[in-house]
Amino acid sequence: MSPKPPPRRYDVITFGDMCVDLLVTGEDVTPRFGQVEKLVDDYVIEMGGSCCIFACQAAKLGLRAGILGRVGDDGFGRTIIHRLEECGVDARRVIVDPTLKTGLGIALCQGDDRAILTYPGSLSAIEPEDVTDGYLASARHLHHGSFFLHTRLRPHMPDIFQRARDLGLSTSLDTNWDPDERWNSNLADVMPLTDIFMPNEQEALRISGRSSLEDAVAEFHGWGIPLVVVKRGAAGAWASDGGRTWTCAVTAVSGGDSVGAGDSFDAGFLAGWLRGLPLDDCLDIACRCGQSVAGASGGLQGQPTWNAVSQWRARKDVDGD
Ligand SMILES: Nc1ncnc2c1ncn2[C@@H]1O[C@H](COP(=O)(O)OP(=O)(O)O)[C@@H](O)[C@H]1O
Ligand SMILES: [Mg+2]
Repeated sequence: MSPKPPPRRYDVITFGDMCVDLLVTGEDVTPRFGQVEKLVDDYVIEMGGSCCIFACQAAKLGLRAGILGRVGDDGFGRTIIHRLEECGVDARRVIVDPTLKTGLGIALCQGDDRAILTYPGSLSAIEPEDVTDGYLASARHLHHGSFFLHTRLRPHMPDIFQRARDLGLSTSLDTNWDPDERWNSNLADVMPLTDIFMPNEQEALRISGRSSLEDAVAEFHGWGIPLVVVKRGAAGAWASDGGRTWTCAVTAVSGGDSVGAGDSFDAGFLAGWLRGLPLDDCLDIACRCGQSVAGASGGLQGQPTWNAVSQWRARKDVDGD
């Protein structure tokens, strides 16, 4: 009998698109040049970056989460490491690189809409060599939540996903938005190496080049993805394994800035999936996480713990809500 392999250190690992978000909110936050000064209602400074927000939500949901990334040797970099650790993420592999300035996203939030100015800096600074086989082999699952922004890593992503697969990890991918709006690059090479693909609806349509969600999802299955999960904002979410489909409705919330809703959704889905829960439970947990974050400010506020999720689920069983 061969000996049982040692347990892996992490349930999930990711690579951080490390940055800080400055969220400015008000009724009219449209800047006017000509040295016009406007007063705004509020601001929040919070750790940002899809993969960082994802990792924090994963840790809060009881997954052993690890993250790899680079920050600058500055106050924002220290804020990021501190927030990751506070949320329970293993941030030992975050490299403080004095040649970098930590990335900054300035979001002007008005009603349900927002405009973002991003200084990338450390955001895409991970080098392919940082992603060693040893790091990959330490986890059960690899999630990547920022495909288009990780410009340095992107050409190497097929190799990283292939190595992860070879080392026995399952994989998931959320591309998030493509700031260049090209929507292709080498995504087609990563798709067949992805177990769960988790775009939002607009991203799904643009990536597939199709005009309906059904056609987009069929296209993704054709590219070899077994499970497609599409986020639809206040309309909830939709999942398909190519045979069965699942939907999740949410009660729309307002008053938040919706930053990080999709990334927390991803973590919620995986918190169910990696525990072997049925797909409709995974989708329900994901939607609850997304909704809770959508109604709050910044990507971390509103992220529920596994305890809170378990209480929802217990109430749901009783009330059927
Ligand atoms: N306004 C909202 N009200 C309730 N739930 C929301 C709202 N916005 C987002 N969500 C929840 O968060 C999930 C992800 O949000 P979405 O905006 O679709 O993703 P992304 O942030 O990637 O664009 C949705 O599937 C939904 O469950
Ligand atoms: Mg998203």
